[in-house]
Amino acid sequence: MSDSFDDFARDLQNQIYEDTRKEYGQVFFDRWLKPTNMGKMDNFNGYGRITGICGDTMEIFIRFEKEKIKGASFQTDGCGSSAVCGSFAAELALDKNADEVMEINGEQILQILGGLPEDDRHCAFLAVETLHESVNNYMSKQVK
Ligand code: FES
Repeated sequence: MSDSFDDFARDLQNQIYEDTRKEYGQVFFDRWLKPTNMGKMDNFNGYGRITGICGDTMEIFIRFEKEKIKGASFQTDGCGSSAVCGSFAAELALDKNADEVMEINGEQILQILGGLPEDDRHCAFLAVETLHESVNNYMSKQVK
């Protein structure tokens, strides 16, 4: 009984993996399995939090050291695509200064992923918008 249940669960998981890889591509799939830079970061000095039109919330934590971002992470209560996009947004921010980060856009993440299904494209823009918000938050603290 338990053997056949284990087989069933394994087959089901493999099917989900295969379907995800087919629909979203290998780059997405690898990051979906292992979303790097996930979780609240210690010692962040910039923070962004935005709830998208879909109702999902993205949070980005960044740490500027001198002029450059030396640490970045994200967390989200959203879909798998938002986790993947948040992970890439954090990665793209590393070692960039504020101006360079503000030039990052959602299309860049879509390009890395080779595109996303229409319904998921906004996840890339939400991730980048939140990243920009975190930079704005850091900059506003420097002015004070
Ligand atoms: Fe809303 Fe992905 S962020 S569906």
